Amino acid sequence: MSTPTVETHSAALDAVEAGAVQPITVTFRIRRFNPEEHPDPVWVDYQLTLDPKERVLDALNRIKWEQDGTLTYRRSCAHGICGSDAMRINGRNRLACKTLIKDVNPEKPITIEAIKGLTVLKDLVVDMDPFFQAYKDVMPFLITKGNDPTRERLQSAEDRERFDDTTKCILCAACTSSCPVFWNDGQYFGPAAIVNAHRFIFDSRDEGAEQRLEILNDREGVWRCRTTFNCSEACPRGIEVTKAIQEVKRALVTRRF
Ligand code: SF4
Ligand code: FES
Repeated sequence: MSTPTVETHSAALDAVEAGAVQPITVTFRIRRFNPEEHPDPVWVDYQLTLDPKERVLDALNRIKWEQDGTLTYRRSCAHGICGSDAMRINGRNRLACKTLIKDVNPEKPITIEAIKGLTVLKDLVVDMDPFFQAYKDVMPFLITKGNDPTRERLQSAEDRERFDDTTKCILCAACTSSCPVFWNDGQYFGPAAIVNAHRFIFDSRDEGAEQRLEILNDREGVWRCRTTFNCSEACPRGIEVTKAIQEVKRALVTRRF
C-alpha cells in the first residue's frame, strides 16, 4: 500500500519549473475503486503538467501528494526491482516506475487501472495472495538430499546458464495477470509460478525436479497454457516466459532436465 510522504517535487518537475525542458499537460484517467464508498469502480481524470521523460509512477505520486491523498497503489523501490507497481497502463501490463510518459501516447488521456485476474482491493491495489500461493506451491527453493555440504555447492557456467533467464523474475505478476487462461480460471498456477519452478527444475544442484513436475502436471498446471505469448510480452524483465513454460512441458514428457 502506498505511504504518504511530504516530498512534492521531483527533480524532473524542478527542471520543468526552471524551463530546462518543454513541459506538457497530460490527462491521467485512473480507474478508482473504494468498496467502502461505492460498489462499482469509476474512472477519474487528473491533469498534470510535467516533463514527458518523467515516469508514470512520478505522475501517480504527484497526483497523490498534490491532488488526492486517497489514491492507493503499491510501489517501493521505484527502480524496477521490487515488482510492486505492475498495473495496466493504456491497456498493457507495465511497471509504473519503468514507463516513461512520452512512451505511452501522452497526447491522449493515459488510462491506468489495476492488473486483471486478481481481486481489486482498492484503486490499483489487488489481492496478491492467490499469486503468491501458486508461487509457494511450486516450492521455489533448493531441494537436496544427504548431508549438509561443508562448502558452497559449485556449478559450471554452462549449468548456471541453463536457468539464467528465469532467475530474473521479480514476482511482479505482470505475466500471470495478462494471461487469458488465468483471467478465466484463477486456479491455474500461472506463468510466474511456472517460471519460478523452471528456475529450480533446471538447476543442476537441485533434486526436487520430479516433485515440482508432478505438481505442474496437475489439471491446473502447465498444460493449461495456450501459448498466447501475452506473458512474454508483459514481462518487464524480458524473461522468455513462454519458452520457459514450453521447456517445463517438454521436461514433463521426456523427464530430462
Ligand atoms: S516472469 Fe516477468 S512478468 Fe512474470 S512475475 Fe516474473 S518478472 Fe514479472
Ligand atoms: S516500484 Fe519497485 S518495481 Fe516499480
